[in-house]
Amino acid sequence: MFYYSQQYFVAFCPFERRAKFITNLKDESKRAIITEMDGKPRNSQRINKLNDLSSSEWLKFQKSWFLHNPPPRNKKVLTHPAKFPETLIQEFIEFFTKKGMNILDPMAGTGSTLIACIRSGRNGYGIELNKKYVEVARDLIAQETLQMNMFQRVKIELFNYDANNIKELNIPPIDYCITSPPYWDMLKMKGAKTQKNRKESGLDVFYSDDPRDLGNISDYNLFIESLVHIYRLVYDLLRDKAYMTIIVKNVKKRGRIYPLAWDLGQGLSKFFTLKDERIWCQDNQRLAPYGLLNAWVSNTFHHYCLNFRKEL
Ligand SMILES: C[S@@+](CC[C@H](N)C(=O)[O-])C[C@H]1O[C@@H](n2cnc3c(N)ncnc32)[C@H](O)[C@@H]1O
Repeated sequence: MFYYSQQYFVAFCPFERRAKFITNLKDESKRAIITEMDGKPRNSQRINKLNDLSSSEWLKFQKSWFLHNPPPRNKKVLTHPAKFPETLIQEFIEFFTKKGMNILDPMAGTGSTLIACIRSGRNGYGIELNKKYVEVARDLIAQETLQMNMFQRVKIELFNYDANNIKELNIPPIDYCITSPPYWDMLKMKGAKTQKNRKESGLDVFYSDDPRDLGNISDYNLFIESLVHIYRLVYDLLRDKAYMTIIVKNVKKRGRIYPLAWDLGQGLSKFFTLKDERIWCQDNQRLAPYGLLNAWVSNTFHHYCLNFRKEL
């Protein structure tokens, strides 16, 4: 029988007729020790089945929204139009896995997930269709590995492949998947000021012209179906009870919202359990006067980090 109060955890074992006390949960050093009535300490630390975090680190991650302003990008990765900060990915990996576990990103871009794996001591497997991004990622991985603690050995593999064929790659069972898809064909929408600036600087405005690239599917329903198909293949690679996080936005096109995050949540719920979302907010972006003095058009500075679990 267990009894929780706000600050203290007391375990009471009716069979042994001895009350056991675990002192203040906030105090990590004391938490490991149960003092029995007979005065002998017994090590019965509660086992953390999910990760290597302390209780306070765990609690911090449980807030349903967070601010994360990406640090300035390395010049090499500027070419990719939608790269995510490794710092953010690392926080997720460290919550959903323990050291030495296997992580997958089936649309790895310039390899943020794999870099985060090296930094956190996890094995990383990535797939990316675009050869140019694979080359950038391999360079970054080589650099990061040089800086790695020599006692920390991790396995990193990046495949220049179509995620639809993931089953051909001999990837081992995966403990956690974190990934982000193209946001439909949004990068192909002309006219946005950032797109214009990128073009003028010789940077990619969209990923590729490859018909296998999901960012080239213009039919919204077909895009959702294709994405769901790839995540179904990922599902088969995940161990039971493993989590998957998808970072995505709802998409605004020609004055209408396409609820990509919610449609994905619904589509994947046929096999995954949708647990919840964490909302990633940025507060360092300049506001644009869309619709000023005329109509409501938001500046969208948040992404959904959708957390799914494989539960049979
Ligand atoms: C949002 S980006 C991922 C960015 C990545 N998280 C990063 O931080 O660099 C989506 C990626 O999916 C890739 N992609 C699109 N279709 C794909 C497919 N069929 N197989 C593998 N990768 C694909 C694109 O080339 C693009 O790099």
